[in-house]
Amino acid sequence: MKRAKITVIGAGNVGASCAFWAAAKELGDIVLIDIPDFADKTAGKALDLAQCGPVERFDCKITGTADYEHAAGSDVVIITAGIPRKPGMSRDDLIQTNVKIVKSVTQQIAKVAPQSVLIVVSNPLDAMVYTAWKTSDFPTNRVVGQAGCLDIARFRTFIAMELGCSVADISALLMGGHGDDMVPLPRYTSVAGIPVTQLIAKDKLDAIIQRAKVGGGEIVKLMGTSAYYAPAAGSVAMAEAIIKDKKRILPCAAYCDSEYGVGGYFVGVPCVLGAGGVEKVIEVELEGDERKMLDSSVAHVKELVGVADGFMKG
Ligand code: APR
Repeated sequence: MKRAKITVIGAGNVGASCAFWAAAKELGDIVLIDIPDFADKTAGKALDLAQCGPVERFDCKITGTADYEHAAGSDVVIITAGIPRKPGMSRDDLIQTNVKIVKSVTQQIAKVAPQSVLIVVSNPLDAMVYTAWKTSDFPTNRVVGQAGCLDIARFRTFIAMELGCSVADISALLMGGHGDDMVPLPRYTSVAGIPVTQLIAKDKLDAIIQRAKVGGGEIVKLMGTSAYYAPAAGSVAMAEAIIKDKKRILPCAAYCDSEYGVGGYFVGVPCVLGAGGVEKVIEVELEGDERKMLDSSVAHVKELVGVADGFMKG
């Protein structure tokens, strides 16, 4: 069987961690790309990672380079290039710089890997997925953003901490943009099938929801830069679903037109991920407040995309 090929653009904290998780899962051959100034550093990271192979027993060819030709024929491309947040910054503060970076890397990758599925991780996420889609001109099913897998992982982690139970038994849903106005949905969250609302009192659950919403900021404050292990794990879970055609249902930033009445933007929704990329957006029923929160999160995404559009043209 032919090995899959995964390219990760941006070999910084998130990118290198993506390569690490992909290698550990033996998903396929991995190409790590960064700017020419960091070509040696990127080659070094790839070599270091390759030398984990004998210990962890994975057989993946890992290349670190600044040359996009190495990415030719990739099945999945994870875009992490861009600047991360520093303390006091919101994800939105990154937009001007990251639009230019995401546009430039997408132009280059679209030439060498025109059949790939793009998974965008750079922030502000929803506007960066839109930038990658507009630039690549790929069909909407082959451009998707990683945010929900991370946001939901945070939500599940905090629920497990509160209950003292296994994270594996928690199933949760969260929608909207990857900002502090994301929409966790306790009504669609359960622990081994038991609605979470029966296990955690409302005030405690509200506090958990709030912590999940600003979970990225909590880490920026602690580390001085944004998170990378969990964002990378979320991205590689998506890559795995696509490469193995698993048809996993994961929350992703997917293109929604009539879906949820979004009207042509990428926002966090539950999706079926398989060989075709986003194979389906699942529409769930939303009640009054849930709908209102989603609408306000989508309005924020639209505003950001408007700003990104301006920088894309500039
Ligand atoms: N082409 C390729 N790589 C680039 C380019 C470019 N044009 N511009 C920047 N990069 C690389 C940087 O050289 C750096 O190695 O992107 C990498 C980013 O790494 P970090 O600074 O460590 O940032 P990281 O924490 O990985 O976050 C990257 O992901 O989660 C988001 O908000 C986060 O937007 C940020 C992105």
